[in-house]
Amino acid sequence: MFRAIVYQRAKGDLASIPFGTKVDTYGDGYEWMGHSIAARDISAMDHNPRVKIGGIHCTQPYSAALLNISAMSFGSLSSNAVRALNRGAALGNFYHNTGEGGVSDFHCEHEGDLVWQIGTGYFGCRSDDGRFSAAGFAKTAQRTNIKMIEIKLSQGAKPGHGGILPASKNTDLIARIRHVPVGTEVVSPSAHSAFSTPRGLLEFVQQLRELSGGKPVGFKLCVGRESEFIAICKAMLETGIMPDFVTVDGGEGGTGAAPLEYSNSVGMPLRDGLAFVVNTLEGFGVREHIRVIASGKVFTAFDMAKALALGADLCNSARGMLLALGCVQSLECNSNRCPTGITTQDPRLVRGLDVSDKGQRVARFHRETIHALLDLTSSAGLESPQQLNRSHIYRRVDQMTVRRYDQLFPLPQNGSYLTATATDAVFVHLNEASSDSFSAALADSA
Ligand SMILES: Cc1cc2nc3c(=O)[nH]c(=O)nc-3n(C[C@H](O)[C@H](O)[C@H](O)COP(=O)(O)O)c2cc1C
Repeated sequence: MFRAIVYQRAKGDLASIPFGTKVDTYGDGYEWMGHSIAARDISAMDHNPRVKIGGIHCTQPYSAALLNISAMSFGSLSSNAVRALNRGAALGNFYHNTGEGGVSDFHCEHEGDLVWQIGTGYFGCRSDDGRFSAAGFAKTAQRTNIKMIEIKLSQGAKPGHGGILPASKNTDLIARIRHVPVGTEVVSPSAHSAFSTPRGLLEFVQQLRELSGGKPVGFKLCVGRESEFIAICKAMLETGIMPDFVTVDGGEGGTGAAPLEYSNSVGMPLRDGLAFVVNTLEGFGVREHIRVIASGKVFTAFDMAKALALGADLCNSARGMLLALGCVQSLECNSNRCPTGITTQDPRLVRGLDVSDKGQRVARFHRETIHALLDLTSSAGLESPQQLNRSHIYRRVDQMTVRRYDQLFPLPQNGSYLTATATDAVFVHLNEASSDSFSAALADSA
């Protein structure tokens, strides 16, 4: 539905739509933003809003844009797609997440900012037995174009399942970068071997921060069982180690290849997962130290506004960026036959993707979406998008009921989870969570 507006923005075509909305504004689930009579003048706003990521343990904090390129590997994407995305990031001054497939030369040619993602396969920092290699990590992490490190715990399209690189896309070069046998299907392990407990995860965060020379380190997850994230928050308080950011991916997230049951039926959707993560950080009193990044069907400025209103500090987009690159949704990402040269390793198809032109489109899509966000923000009477909160978004819950996000997703008092009692709804999850295990401690049902 939003493909046309992404194309328009990427190509620099007319930014408006004619005649009025085609959306059913009376349908269940319809959402809108409340504007203000005291709307502001957009020209007086900061046109390059940024968010600082990196707590006191970071010697190299990063100033991030509000919209960035979500994790997609070289392997799932072609060399030219990676080049064009990175060119767009460099032109527009936003970051480009490498995805779990490692850092290739194609990520570095245009010198756009990178977030290096480390998945369970540890591609690019892997020892011969497939485990994490500290020496391998340190060497790459200290490159100046790598600004942050993201540990991938899960992604919304296939949470609890390792990444999948189809055999037809596992070329010589990709096999070399990943240290895997060429021409075979590469399924990453479903869980990390570098740690196995919430405490262990945070110790790994600290290890990566030190090995990278003090760069921000965070993790990405799609929320599964609530107690697992709560266990991580308990471990934060016990160890004093905080991630610099948490990326929340919605169950509606995209992928190059995933089993159907996972894409359709595993993992919490973004709105619920994001509200839960923000509430939990707030409830444990650690929200101010940790930036929250949201991904999952962010195509327009209104999608961004909703995420920021729920408490995200910034957003990532994967498929929006693919559409900006010229994706026509031929749904061939997992077959090596993508006709636009984006998700294929077939050299004849890859050649058709013009890096210079498509890099420009990615940068334009970004610029126009940020502009639209500022436009919305000014109409809400706010000085900056960071002032959006849950009271700004409305939802038609059913034919007789409209609710604001602050009614649907009430924010707990800062630190209130530390003194929660059995009458609080969150208590059941708090009770299940232990900093020593990701497994929920289940009450005896006998
Ligand atoms: C082609 C493709 C490859 C992806 N590869 C990765 C990956 O390597 N690591 C990861 O964490 N997520 C990966 N994702 C998921 C995205 O980073 C993102 O979390 C998800 O698609 C939600 O964003 P979207 O709705 O804007 O696409 C991939 C998505 C796509 C479409």
